[in-house]
Amino acid sequence: MKQLSLLFLALAFVANSQAQESSDEFAARMSWFRDAKLGIFIHWGIYSVRGVDESWSFYNRYLPYDEYMKQADGFTAAKYDPEAWAKLIRESGARYAVLTTKHHDGMALYNTSLSDLNVLKKTPAGRDLVKPFCESLKKQGVKTGLYFSMLDWSHPDYPKFLNNQERYQNDSIRWNKFLDFRRGQIHELAAFKPDLLWFDGDWDYSAEQWKSAEMRTDINKWMPGVIVNSRINGYGDYATPEQGVPVIQPKEPYWELCMTINDSWGYQQNDHNYKSANQIIRIFTDCISMGGNLLLDIGPKPDGTIPEEQQLVLKELGRWTKKHKEAIYGTVAGIPKDYYYGPSALSKDRDILYLYVTGKPAGPLMIKGLKNPINRIWVVGNGSKLNHTVMMKSYWSDVPGIVYIDVPENVLDEQVTVIAVLLKGPVELNPPVK
Ligand code: GLC
Repeated sequence: MKQLSLLFLALAFVANSQAQESSDEFAARMSWFRDAKLGIFIHWGIYSVRGVDESWSFYNRYLPYDEYMKQADGFTAAKYDPEAWAKLIRESGARYAVLTTKHHDGMALYNTSLSDLNVLKKTPAGRDLVKPFCESLKKQGVKTGLYFSMLDWSHPDYPKFLNNQERYQNDSIRWNKFLDFRRGQIHELAAFKPDLLWFDGDWDYSAEQWKSAEMRTDINKWMPGVIVNSRINGYGDYATPEQGVPVIQPKEPYWELCMTINDSWGYQQNDHNYKSANQIIRIFTDCISMGGNLLLDIGPKPDGTIPEEQQLVLKELGRWTKKHKEAIYGTVAGIPKDYYYGPSALSKDRDILYLYVTGKPAGPLMIKGLKNPINRIWVVGNGSKLNHTVMMKSYWSDVPGIVYIDVPENVLDEQVTVIAVLLKGPVELNPPVK
């Protein structure tokens, strides 16, 4: 439900943000994001100490608030190595990263001057954890994204505290105090020079109540050119389906699937339900194939180390993205699955069709309805050229024949093989795609 309404909001906000800039300007601002394809999401906070659900565990009363907050004592960041994080992220093939600067529990990971609820004052970490990470990302050439929760269940002026328990109702003075606080904290984020702001938790109130239009205007002023995700009540730039891989291509021009690496956003020592590199790469090819990005979430431990299982997945992802980079970055959505039974992508000028091949095909690959003659076919990251045959093409009919491509076993990748089909001219399909 949440996802559906977010998608609706997404439609509205694209219209909104375009009202302030021309569609060409909007496309130019979004271009790095559109080409980036892969981002790494990082949920890091005091919830990693016990390994409980981030913020929700107290809100939903699985753990008393005080006990939840006591986790702060164990949040040491003793082995935090932002350089190593940024390197691992770059090596995974991700072109951007998004770090939680403050989750719904209100504990800021940076040196906010507006509240004592921050890791400098309340945890043994005792320092700003956001700043060095942003600097390391910039050094690695990875774009910087900052997650920030609009709602703050710890703040004395935020109406909601626990599920079905409010601090107050209809008190505009207190509410405006909270809005000023939120505005101030978002302003503070400008110091990190983010390329992207990833808001969350807008669902508690309406755009009017949150003053989202004003917020967006301020953001554009404070951080010109920044990209903003959907969760700002209709004033963002792209849609954020969560966990559920879109089955059909989302309608929004820009979107990003955010997804956990196991079943949790933050580190939980009892959650071993990791997706394999193969499962993640296949989900990733689905996103690419529908013109979207994947924002894969990891959860570091309280000492700042990234769990071994998560590192292994990122490294294997890195091997695969490095080998297949030409079929990933800067591509656009591929051809519908009716024409090729699998994910695919197109080069920007639409004359190279990339076919993603999962596993070992039992016979030749098949493309139906392809009108273009084929200039050359090769295996991406391997270079071998492949032969093809066109069957059932009649000289008297416009109906294209069926293209068959044999893929020998010795070119197969352990995860997903990619075949590049260089077409004569931009792809043309019959029947044409509406
Ligand atoms: C949800 C949850 C939150 C998580 C976020 C990431 O909105 O509230 O805990 O951080 O998804 O997308």
